[in-house]
Amino acid sequence: MKNIAILTSGGDSPGMNACIRAVVRYGISKGLNVFGVYKGYSGLINGQIKPLNERSVGNIIHTGGTILRTSRCPEFKTEEGQEKAIKNLQKYGIEGLVVIGGDGSYRGAECLIKKGILCACIPGTIDNNLFYTDFTVGYDTASNTIVNMVNYVRDTTLSHDRISIIETMGAGCGDLALTAGLAAGADVIIVPEVEMHIDDVCNKLIRAREHKKEGSIVVVSEKVCNINELAKVIEERCKLECRTVILGHVQRGGSPSAFDRNIAARFGVIAVDELIKGESGAVGQKNGKYIYVPIDKALKTKQNFNVSDFMLAEKLSF
Ligand code: ADP
Ligand code: F6P
Repeated sequence: MKNIAILTSGGDSPGMNACIRAVVRYGISKGLNVFGVYKGYSGLINGQIKPLNERSVGNIIHTGGTILRTSRCPEFKTEEGQEKAIKNLQKYGIEGLVVIGGDGSYRGAECLIKKGILCACIPGTIDNNLFYTDFTVGYDTASNTIVNMVNYVRDTTLSHDRISIIETMGAGCGDLALTAGLAAGADVIIVPEVEMHIDDVCNKLIRAREHKKEGSIVVVSEKVCNINELAKVIEERCKLECRTVILGHVQRGGSPSAFDRNIAARFGVIAVDELIKGESGAVGQKNGKYIYVPIDKALKTKQNFNVSDFMLAEKLSF
């Protein structure tokens, strides 16, 4: 094998750059030429492909975003789009492709693998919703960002004795809300995995008042409910003043944590080694061990939501 390429796709996540750095520098140390594909699958279709060297990835280990840029590319879901992409890989003599992204990007890679392209996938998303791995690159940093934001909101929540309802990202996975909610001492955590009635939410908040708590924090995973509507109901039923905060894309930025940088480096090295062996698959970490699994297994693994952390957060909120 002489030439490999790397792309980042879908929602960016902190640590993608540390991962690109690892793939490029380790690849070169193994005697490979490493190409960067710009703007995810869209760059593969349009031929936005350039050689990278050790210096191209200097001074990026600490930065958020992705130097290769990213995209959501509907054309890649079509046969024609995929054929164009494969022609470009052939044009540059690229024999193996590293894809860093979330579940959508993995589905894209699966299509390429089925067409005979060698692909190594690296989980890069803040959502932590690729369940074959315990951690995706960016999840730890985003969790810490949320905790910091909740700390800020907590100050004013207490001063005004209000209920602050804070919405996190997660794309249907409650891991971010749970991890950050537990770490930030939220009174109530609302996630898609655990059904919660509005009565339960109101009862918890009223009980907190009965326990002489001043101000409460409610962390809600996106897409579970409209937090502004939730605030109205709480104000009406509990007679408590509410404010809402949608954290939004602040969660996707920032300098990656040490944890994210370290798994990014390891994942990158494993991906290159597996490409050299001629194995397509997805790299991850399970129960403290680095793993490389077939792409279909990576996509089919079901969520194992951490109910015990959820119960713990509830218990510790009083
Ligand atoms: P993420 O990788 O963060 O989950 P998306 O779901 O937007 O982000 O997926 C990124 C890109 O992966 C899409 O824009 C598309 O180009 C490609 N993709 C997603 N799903 C498929 C699919 N079923 N088949 C082929 N390509 C896909
Ligand atoms: O997948 C990452 C993510 O940030 C999700 O948490 C969120 O639902 C979505 O992407 C937002 O997408 P966009 O960047 O297109 O607004």
